Amino acid sequence: MSGREQVKIFDTTLRDGEQSPGCSMTAKEKLRLAHQLDHLGVDIIEAGFPIASDGDFQAVRAVAREVRRPVIAALARCRREDVEQAWRAVEGAAHPRIHAFLATSDIHLQHKLRISRQQCLDQACEAVTLAKSFCQDVEFSPEDATRSDIDFVCIVLAAVIEAGATTLNLPDTVGYAVPSEYAELIQTIRRRVPGIERVTISAHCHNDLGLAVANSFAAVSAGARQVECTINGIGERAGNASLEEIVMTMRVRGDRYPYETGVVSEHLFPVSQLLTEITGVPVQPNKAVIGRNAFAHEAGIHQDGMIKNSQTYEIMTPQSVGVPNTRLVLGKHSGRHALGLRCEELGFRLDRRELDVVYRRFLALADRIKTVEDHHILEMIGKKPAVQADFGPPTSQSINCDANSTAAFLAMSVEENEQEDYLWGV
Ligand code: KIV
Ligand code: ZN
Repeated sequence: MSGREQVKIFDTTLRDGEQSPGCSMTAKEKLRLAHQLDHLGVDIIEAGFPIASDGDFQAVRAVAREVRRPVIAALARCRREDVEQAWRAVEGAAHPRIHAFLATSDIHLQHKLRISRQQCLDQACEAVTLAKSFCQDVEFSPEDATRSDIDFVCIVLAAVIEAGATTLNLPDTVGYAVPSEYAELIQTIRRRVPGIERVTISAHCHNDLGLAVANSFAAVSAGARQVECTINGIGERAGNASLEEIVMTMRVRGDRYPYETGVVSEHLFPVSQLLTEITGVPVQPNKAVIGRNAFAHEAGIHQDGMIKNSQTYEIMTPQSVGVPNTRLVLGKHSGRHALGLRCEELGFRLDRRELDVVYRRFLALADRIKTVEDHHILEMIGKKPAVQADFGPPTSQSINCDANSTAAFLAMSVEENEQEDYLWGV
């Protein structure tokens, strides 16, 4: 153990994540993913919103019965039927939690719920009291907290602590907050809400301005010890804070964020892949940590650096997140070093001249297509007619290079060859 403070990872892929278009899952799929989230090491799995449909109720119940290590949470509005249904869904869990939520912002109270602040306060207390009568572990969320009147939020939070809430979650429901502001919200609540020291403060950030992860870290630095997040950052609209980004930021930047999670980071990529497989919703290629390009390099200068020492352009190893390998993608920005390495991987050790010939063909092709694949390289190497005599000592496998490009190479001036030396590997 490192002695670092623990931040609990509350995974809501199966609830908030599932609410994003195209991401709904069957009970069987949720169960499959829940087992993998357990394996990943998350602390809490929010398995669904049982009042929403019978299918979701069955899914939450199945997860609660089968996945025994983590806490299994079910979401409920602050209504008797919701809380009772949530409890029926999680009562079979080894560690059940009821998560009750009610909006506190005037926008939501006036236009969506059409209730007064007093009614809101009463409903929140009643729901938490009821939830507590079923279950020791009760979370409460004042929805749209970041656009709510802070005095009112403090009143509601103090009241639900009295009613038995053990976790207080502060949702940035519409992804509106910026980090300094979200940190201030947490600090104010810690200063002003009686009993706050007895509960866990939680961050729940949406990504409408691309700040979900930054806001989550601002909250942690201000005292939050639970972060709600999703695999691949899926969730309503622009998504939720991405679990893999949170976990890896703590791991890579432990100097700035000295916290631990129970997540086994080597399982991140496999779980991300499973989610993609289940939902059919692809991850953007440049997505941090688990995107297809997160460990791919095409530019020659970068590839050259990577071949010499991977720390030149990678701040974490692909293996540390479960990605099998760094990928040197061969395209028009690639250099000879990467091409030579790929040829070697394909079983052809080329000397400098051979490589140069193949490289010219490669560039001509790369100018026309986006990515040069292994079969293209094999075709380039295998081309007739052979001029191997020009190429010096034998290679591990012989290659064929056509006379035209070799002749062009040999015809290059001294300056051109010097320039070639300078650019070698780039
Ligand atoms: O974003 C939100 O406000 C939520 C709550 C239900 C916690 O997801
Ligand atoms: Zn949410």
